[in-house]
Amino acid sequence: MEAILETRGLTAFYGDFQALFGIDVMVERGEVIALIGSNGAGKSTFLKALAGLLPASEQQIAYRGEAIGGMPAARIVGMGIALVPEGRRLFASLSVEENLLLGAYSSRPGRWTLDTVYTLFPILKERRHHAATALSGGQQQMVALGRALMSNPDLLMCDELSLGLAPVVVREIYAALPSIVGDGMSAIVVEQDVQLARRVSKRFYCFQEGRVSLAGASAEVSDEAITRAYFGAVS
Ligand SMILES: Nc1ncnc2c1ncn2[C@@H]1O[C@H](COP(=O)(O)OP(=O)(O)O)[C@@H](O)[C@H]1O
Ligand SMILES: [Mg+2]
Repeated sequence: MEAILETRGLTAFYGDFQALFGIDVMVERGEVIALIGSNGAGKSTFLKALAGLLPASEQQIAYRGEAIGGMPAARIVGMGIALVPEGRRLFASLSVEENLLLGAYSSRPGRWTLDTVYTLFPILKERRHHAATALSGGQQQMVALGRALMSNPDLLMCDELSLGLAPVVVREIYAALPSIVGDGMSAIVVEQDVQLARRVSKRFYCFQEGRVSLAGASAEVSDEAITRAYFGAVS
């Protein structure tokens, strides 16, 4: 299989504080991988580094074989990497539709347009002229996801889509994932809910204190091994 993304010894810092210590992750074309791990393990930092929102050295991130570490965020979006950030980050003064259209500014060609996003989440079409922040949490998450899709990414990164949402809403949002990745798009999904993360992914990486403490096939790993990787000391 062809790797769409590969990190090699990726490090990340907030000033003097080191948050990632040499992360090796690989994503194949058309594959969904999950990142799990407790609060503060470095999952969001990892996604931010891939999205160009934190400094990284060039060779630490390869995308379709090209070294992209340290590239500006806008250029990375233009290359086909989109982030649905933790906490959604919608523009409060803009409508649902205006928020979605912001995602299209990179104007990559592809299947995702206002029409196809509205087909995926019909409620957004009904609410398209409402202020995005007037929507329920689940609907706001659909807007955030739709906005990322509007850039027609080849690699979609979702940071805790389920945060603060009722289980039924979480199921509805994740039910959309197979049809999103069905045509060869790859995805990295960060999830606190380990069972959910395993269900939606082919492989997973568990982060602990800025390192990968376990990686493997989502269907094969034991709950016990995950618990150890989640809470235990990194060996
Ligand atoms: N903006 C920031 N400034 C300083 N430290 C940060 C910042 N964001 C995250 N951190 C620290 O980096 C580490 C990893 O955080 P994060 O990537 O958000 O973890 P996760 O997403 O796995 O919960 C934590 O120790 C956190 O406190
Ligand atoms: Mg996080």
